[in-house]
Order: sequence, then structure tokens, then C-alpha cells
Amino acid sequence: MIAFRKALLTFATASLLTCGAREPQFQPPGQELYRPQFHFTPAQNWMNDPNGLVFFDGEYHLFYQYNPFGIRWGHMSWGHAVSRDLVHWEHLPVAIPEKDGVMIFSGSVVVDWKNSSGFGRAGVPPLVALYTGHRERERIQTQDVAYSTDNGRTWKQYEKNPVLDRGLADFRDPKVFWYEPGPYWVMVLALPPERKVSFYSSRDLKQWDHLSDFGPAGAAESIWEVPDLFELPIEGEPGHTKWVLTVSVGADGREAGSACQYFVGHFDGRGFAVENDGTTSGATREVPTRWVDYGRDFYAAISFSDIPRQDGRRIWLGWMNNWQYGQDLPTEPWRGAQSLPRELKLKRLQGRVHLLQKPVQELTKLREQHFRLPETTFEGILSLQKQGIVGKALEIQAEFEPGTASEFGLKLCVGKGEETLVGFDAKQGIVFVDRTRSGRSDFHPRFAGRHTGPLAMQGGRVHLHVFVDWSSVEVFAGEGETVLTDLIFPSPESQGLELFTTGGSAKLASLEVWELRSLWTGAAP
Ligand code: FRU
Repeated sequence: MIAFRKALLTFATASLLTCGAREPQFQPPGQELYRPQFHFTPAQNWMNDPNGLVFFDGEYHLFYQYNPFGIRWGHMSWGHAVSRDLVHWEHLPVAIPEKDGVMIFSGSVVVDWKNSSGFGRAGVPPLVALYTGHRERERIQTQDVAYSTDNGRTWKQYEKNPVLDRGLADFRDPKVFWYEPGPYWVMVLALPPERKVSFYSSRDLKQWDHLSDFGPAGAAESIWEVPDLFELPIEGEPGHTKWVLTVSVGADGREAGSACQYFVGHFDGRGFAVENDGTTSGATREVPTRWVDYGRDFYAAISFSDIPRQDGRRIWLGWMNNWQYGQDLPTEPWRGAQSLPRELKLKRLQGRVHLLQKPVQELTKLREQHFRLPETTFEGILSLQKQGIVGKALEIQAEFEPGTASEFGLKLCVGKGEETLVGFDAKQGIVFVDRTRSGRSDFHPRFAGRHTGPLAMQGGRVHLHVFVDWSSVEVFAGEGETVLTDLIFPSPESQGLELFTTGGSAKLASLEVWELRSLWTGAAP
């Protein structure tokens, strides 16, 4: 609450100083209805996929699909922000603008340490962006290159673009990484209508040779977009690694809209094969679908390139939205947010290698006031308001033991006729977010609803790690094997926090709640 007031003051003053009189209908940036306080959002206009995530020279770069001219998708360009801690972001000017009828679609950035491309300057490795050029006139999508030798502040497009053109209308979203055993660069990109990804190799980031294709597999009822591919160690199994291929699946024809799936398997430098618990299978539809996130609002996620080996983490983030209703969200003057950065791991659980996601540890910097509740058995509603625990920018760690209750969990953003449920259904073994009464949902018939993911209890307990940020809920359940990300649009007064059970009692083993600081306060990191 203190941060809240400080933010209001800082921005009221800042806007008076810099903008003169503001249009009365607008709130100061950061205080608008529904504005996320610690998730990345552009000050104004439309944003979708994260692009070109890369770490270089002490900075994490976040580029993103951006419309500099409006609050709906269009004129796609790469917006840009940098951070030294993955928490505080500095907004920078548009990095690569739409030009001559070519929109700058999604793609990636690598540090070309050995200057294989020749774009570098003496002693300065270039940052090289590989992105999709969406060529309106020719009605094709090609892969294009741009490079920077000043820490990503200015970009030059390669004069011989495109570097990869197959004359296809849909061929996009290149993610590039250095494959040391090659040694060569590998690019994975999507053939959307075919529900395939394609692998290419290159020694100089300019000439690309086809290696193989993968798919359709898993969820293939809608187009495939924005793939990523990386190798991860398996926790607790020293010396063992597996490759993870992630693919976003489009909204058309899917009741749940767009979502992100993953495959665990092996990449041998030429192609990817799914390994289903020991058995290797090719590209078949028989491969069961594994969702990265069981909520409705996590899409087009890609991971950071070039995080130093000493750090060793694989970190990614996704667009917190869904193509089904993304353009109708009731926010202004911006539309679109990125998820929290998440660390990725692999771990065998119940005999199967799972992708685990955990919010990056740097986010603990945002913690302000802290509340703790002692162990307690409860039934029905337990309101935390009396203990002063309220808010709409919160982090919650809760551990439950089921008793006789059929369902139990947390009610967030509780207010007049409004609540968002994060709970566990003990009989079915599922964790859920219910946003049927979360607030505004009139902008799209499919928005309201209850979303579920499977969760096996560990040691007889259910662990929920939850982030609430004005208009979103991210739930990391168990060890992060089941994650749900959902947007919500409660009224600003709905800030209550409650525990609930239905059909019996449950035990709260532990509860910790932190108020989280706003990034809009202007406070130095
Ligand atoms: C995914 C996507 C990408 C494309 C970009 C265009 O959300 O459709 O496939 O490159 O958005 O903005």
C-alpha cells in the first residue's frame, strides 16, 4: 500500500513535469485500471510475443512484437527493453521498425562470439537478430538478419536479406542457437499450416541448409508457431540430459484458444525425436500432448540465449495472452503483458521426465510486507482480511494437506460478487484456476471459465506458489510441473484474500504472503 501511494505521487509529479496537462480520462502510467505492477508491459500500444531474448554485457534484452501506432495488432516491429536483474526493465526506443511493407515478425538474437557472420567490429562480437520478414506485397514470409555492435541500441538490416526464402506464405519464428558438437548454428522455425518445425544449420548465420523436419505430433489441431529447442540436465540424475522442444499452438479450432506444448527427447544435430519414457518415437500424432501451462494465457514463450555458463540457468517468458480474445482485452492505453521470467528444469516425477517452471529467484527483490499464518485446520471460508492480509500485487506460498474436503485452496481478489479461485480437487488430483467470477469478462464469450491441470501430491501435500498482479494470476503448483497462467479483470476494490474448502475440512500446513513492490514507482533497483 505504501508503494502504491508512492507510485501515485511519483507519476503524478512526473507527468505534470514532462507532459504538462494530461487528458483527464487517463491515469498516470502505472496506475491505470488493470495495469500490471511487476510484469513487463509497454507504456502504450499493442504487444504480443517476446522476441530476441538474449543476455549480453550484463544486460538481459527483451524485444517484443510491437505496434508503435496502435492498440491492436499491426505494423509489427520489435519493441525493446533491457534489465540487469530480470525484474526492473528500462524501456528503449523501437529496435527494428517495419520498413517498406515488410513487417518484423518474431525471431531470436544470438551473440556471435566468434564473429562468424563478419558483422562484428574489432573486439566487439555482434548481436545478430534472425527474424521473419512478413512481406505483404509478395505474400511470403522469409528469414531476415539484422545486427548490432552497440549493445543492441541500434540495428542494421543485412543488405542481402532475406537469408532464407522458400517462397512460403507461412514460414516463421526462427530460434537460433550454437550447437557446439557441429560446430554450427542451428535454427528451428515453424511451418505453421503443416504443424511442423524445420531445422536448419549454418556456419555464418547467413547461409542456411535444411537438416530435417519434425511433426505433426502432440497437439496438432491448429497451426504451429514460435518453437524453441534446448538441452537441460535432469535434476538428481548426474550426467543425464534431455532436449526439450517447445511449440506454440494457434487458437483456431481450439476451444481453449492458443497454448504452448512441449516434447522431451533427443536432438542429434540433425533432427529431433521424442523419447516417451525410454521409447524413442518419430514424428507421429500418437505422441501425447504435454502442456507447458494449463491456464489460458501463456503463449509464444522463448528462452534467453547466452546466459553465462557460471549462471547456467535456462530462463524463458511468454506472452500473457491468448489469440482467441487477445485484441479485445479491456485495457488502455496498452494491450499485452509478458509473463514473469521462469527458470526451466527437468525432473523425473512418477517415473516420467517433466518440464518444471519456477519464477526466477530475482523476483524476491520485490517482496515488501510479509505475513505468515500458523498451521491450522479449517472448513468453509477463512478470511485473512482481519489479519490485514489484502492486496492485488501479491506473492503467496501455501501448503495444504487434504482432509475431508473435496476442494480447497485460495480465493484471490475477493470483492463484491467477485473472486478468483486457485484450488485443488482432491478426488480428481487436479489444480485449477476459476475465473468465472473474476470481474470483467463481457469482452469475449470464451473468457470466463475454470481451467485445470493434473497434479500429483507429494508427501501428502499440495504446494501452491501464486503471483497476483492486478490483472493476472500465475500459479506454480507442486515443484512447477503444473503451471496455470490466467488473466483476470477484477474491480480495483476487490483485494480480499481467503482460504476455502468445500465438502469438508482441510489443513493449511503453511502460508506466507508478501505484498510486492510496483515497478512503476521509479525507485532504483
Ligand atoms: C505468434 C505469432 C508469430 C508471428 C507473430 C506476429 O503469436 O503469430 O507466429 O511471428 O505472432 O506478430
